[in-house]
Amino acid sequence: MLELPGTPDFDVWPVTHEVRNVKAAADVLSVVWADGRTSAHHALLLRENSPDPVTTHPKAREMAISPTDIPQDVGITSADILETGAVRVQFSDGLDTSFHPGWLRGTAWFEAPKPEPLFLWTSAEQPEPPTFDGPDALDHPERFLHWLEALRDFGVARLRGLPQQDGLLEEIVTRIGPVRESNFGRQYVLEIKDDPDSQAYTSGSLLQHVDLPTRELPFGLQFLYTRDNTTTGGEGIYVDAYCIAEDMRQEEPDHFHSLITDIWEYNNRARTSDYRGSGPVVETDANGAITGIRYNTFLRAPLKAPPEVQARAYKAYRAFCARAQDPAYQMVFRYEPGDLLAFDNRRVLHGRAGYEAKGGSRFIEGIYCDRDDLHSRIRTIKRQLRA
Ligand SMILES: [Fe+2]
Repeated sequence: MLELPGTPDFDVWPVTHEVRNVKAAADVLSVVWADGRTSAHHALLLRENSPDPVTTHPKAREMAISPTDIPQDVGITSADILETGAVRVQFSDGLDTSFHPGWLRGTAWFEAPKPEPLFLWTSAEQPEPPTFDGPDALDHPERFLHWLEALRDFGVARLRGLPQQDGLLEEIVTRIGPVRESNFGRQYVLEIKDDPDSQAYTSGSLLQHVDLPTRELPFGLQFLYTRDNTTTGGEGIYVDAYCIAEDMRQEEPDHFHSLITDIWEYNNRARTSDYRGSGPVVETDANGAITGIRYNTFLRAPLKAPPEVQARAYKAYRAFCARAQDPAYQMVFRYEPGDLLAFDNRRVLHGRAGYEAKGGSRFIEGIYCDRDDLHSRIRTIKRQLRA
């Protein structure tokens, strides 16, 4: 069987479309595909992604040359389609190489990509987290993937019916990625402490918040595994802060502008650590898309700013807070033994109703990891399922 050329990565690139025609025009390779679409590949970028063993390290599959190793005016002298369906390309610097058609198609530029749609929710659309059978998800990669994709798209997703097992939480989280440790330890238990260093370690109610806004980059994901809960009250209260921010962009533009520009500082209140993180409540990218939330009313440091900025920023914060406390935005549910709740700590705010500690027990374990780990694992599971 004729083999296709390698690619500059470890991914699997199914050939979804055959190459029908290729045309070399100085510094651009044009590829006409079986579906009639045409893609254009610039010589410089095509040249540096050649899978040959000098350009791409044959084992690491990383780029092994520098951009300065390629002549600035490198051109494409010829291109043709091989029997395998690969595209052979000769460059003006003497390189004769060929490209995998699945890789060419998968990395082709057709038009500006649209951002992946997120499912923004209020309590009307999403009264409960998307929920999956725990043991089933652990046994089947495609169902584990569904849980991870729901976490990515909704910012919150739950496994139910897991057994009570020491170490199970870490075992599941490390299937996604490495645990991110904090000043609360590698794993923490939400329980009542005599001398709490966080209100989380009391039975009181907790306002909606992001954990660790005190860090340069607040941790991306949080996992809560309920081992036992026979107390009354203590429901989890979750809010899609992206939804709040988008509503405020439309309905309260002045407050929204403050939320994306005024910088608040947060400091953890502890005897042995003094973390300080700062940033706007709503983080946006160069296109204005929301990328993260840094909101926690009870870890906010006093705002050192001129009085008019203090007034503007506080009113905007208060307006955001009013929405976070509005039941219309809240998903409220009870933590049942065997639940593993995962949420995006930089998107979905979490809070808690107070609970009656007497006459019952409550034992919830928690661990953090990062968003990147989630996206990486989603890609690698899909890669395995494609292979
Ligand atoms: Fe928290």
